[in-house]
Amino acid sequence: MKFLLGVKMRKRSRFKLLKYLAVAGLITLLVIFAFNDTLLWPSLPKKTPTPKNLHDVISPSTYRFILNQPELCEKKKSPFLVLMIPVTLESREARTAIRRTWGQHGLIPGVDILHLFVVGQPAQSDPVLQEHFERESNEYGDIIQMNFVDSYHNLTIKTMMIMNWIATYCQGALYTMKIDADVFLNVRYLVDYLHGRDESSRKDYITGSVISDAVPHRDSSNKWYIPEDLYPDTWYPPYVSGAAYVFSTDLARKISWASRFVRPIPLEDVYVGMCLQVLGVKPVYATQFLGLRNLFEVRRLSYERCTFSKRIVVNGFNPQNLIRIWHDFQKSQSTC
Ligand SMILES: *[C@@H]1O[C@H](CO)[C@@H](O)[C@H](O)[C@H]1NC(C)=O
Repeated sequence: MKFLLGVKMRKRSRFKLLKYLAVAGLITLLVIFAFNDTLLWPSLPKKTPTPKNLHDVISPSTYRFILNQPELCEKKKSPFLVLMIPVTLESREARTAIRRTWGQHGLIPGVDILHLFVVGQPAQSDPVLQEHFERESNEYGDIIQMNFVDSYHNLTIKTMMIMNWIATYCQGALYTMKIDADVFLNVRYLVDYLHGRDESSRKDYITGSVISDAVPHRDSSNKWYIPEDLYPDTWYPPYVSGAAYVFSTDLARKISWASRFVRPIPLEDVYVGMCLQVLGVKPVYATQFLGLRNLFEVRRLSYERCTFSKRIVVNGFNPQNLIRIWHDFQKSQSTC
């Protein structure tokens, strides 16, 4: 009897041990799953890396810098804002206009703002133009250039180049803005707006004009045509219009990382939206008065000093018009 009891006890304690092991194993599995965000956010697309040859096309590591400013950001330590402006080699006039208007140094006293023009290469190489360009770069120190062909279709490469540059050389910046050269920027309003955000906007924050119900264009004559084999889904994820958007600098590194799981498409703003979806980050609409006023005005709006003083950006300005309105706009601070 005693002997039998002993066997039973031993069996029971062995059983207990097995139970502990099973529970411990289960907890470990739960912890692993909890850190695996596919379980936390079941609606996210499964993360399968894009085939290397496809990812390489948009990966900045495929290309090399012809012009770089690796120390620009270090000198400023941690700028409040970095403006990244995609342009082509040829658009000297636009660069000049921006340097004289919203890109000028010291525009907002006490707030460090940098700007950089982001450039590829012309399809036909032009050594004379390149030489002039390099002289301009030496003079102003505000140009970065990589050796991919600059074209509308390659804007996704350029956007990834922006993310990569910020992640590599300017992690200390608080915010980054991607802004097209033909956009009017009300720097003061933007700075005040960002100063008004709470701490949460320092991380996983991206704002602009959010487009949340867009569908792919399947008509091949459309400027934004996208074939089904490149993008099979019926809807695009929410994304910010590419003309101008602002994000907390941590997102540059995260978007670069996420891009490994997102097949390249030639629509750069939608592409950033797809990367944000992988990250589980929702772009935020920048509006005032319960959404009645869109602060990132992507429509064209004819110039009116006090209307413009209450917007962050307005789209559709050529260099002459930008310079023309800038002088008058300076009066908005005292008159609007
Ligand atoms: C995009 O850039 C790559 C690399 O320079 C080039 O091979 C390709 O032709 C470009 N595509 C377009 C449509 O310009």
